[in-house]
Amino acid sequence: MERTLVICKPDAVERGLVGEIIGRFERKGLRIAAAELRTLDRDVLARHYAEHVGKGFYDDLVAFMSRGPVLVAVVEGPGDAWSVVRQMMGATDPMKAAAGTIRGDFGTMVTENLVHGSDSAESARREVAVFFPGLRRE
Ligand code: RTP
Ligand code: MG
Repeated sequence: MERTLVICKPDAVERGLVGEIIGRFERKGLRIAAAELRTLDRDVLARHYAEHVGKGFYDDLVAFMSRGPVLVAVVEGPGDAWSVVRQMMGATDPMKAAAGTIRGDFGTMVTENLVHGSDSAESARREVAVFFPGLRRE
């Protein structure tokens, strides 16, 4: 079993889409290994989005991601769980994301694209440790 980090972003919580998003992963056959509603601060976002610190969109990204609670979850499944989650999320820009993906079905704005998923096995390990440092393997 491999694990990956999923965040249902503030827009997903505000719009009542958390159940829809998590339900898609569950119906696919992935399992929720941990989940918590949290409001993220600038410091944890700088660790989580370390590769984006200093980019032109970074300040807007932090303002958005910290504007209200998010659902942070660890999702697990056989093989590359991170890759399956990314396929189900769709492209970063919801207007370019395929129909049938989360972003393709529910979003219109690149700045408010509903869901985060780790983009590699290495990112998944790092991000799970940022949010759930004590999480043990079962
Ligand atoms: P995420 O990390 O949130 O899962 O999204 P992602 O991998 O699909 O995209 P990434 O390149 O990691 O960018 C992180 C988030 O920053 C915002 N962004 N805005 N205005 C822009 O050009 C721009 N580029 C990225 C998006 O909200 C994206 O989800
Ligand atoms: Mg990313």
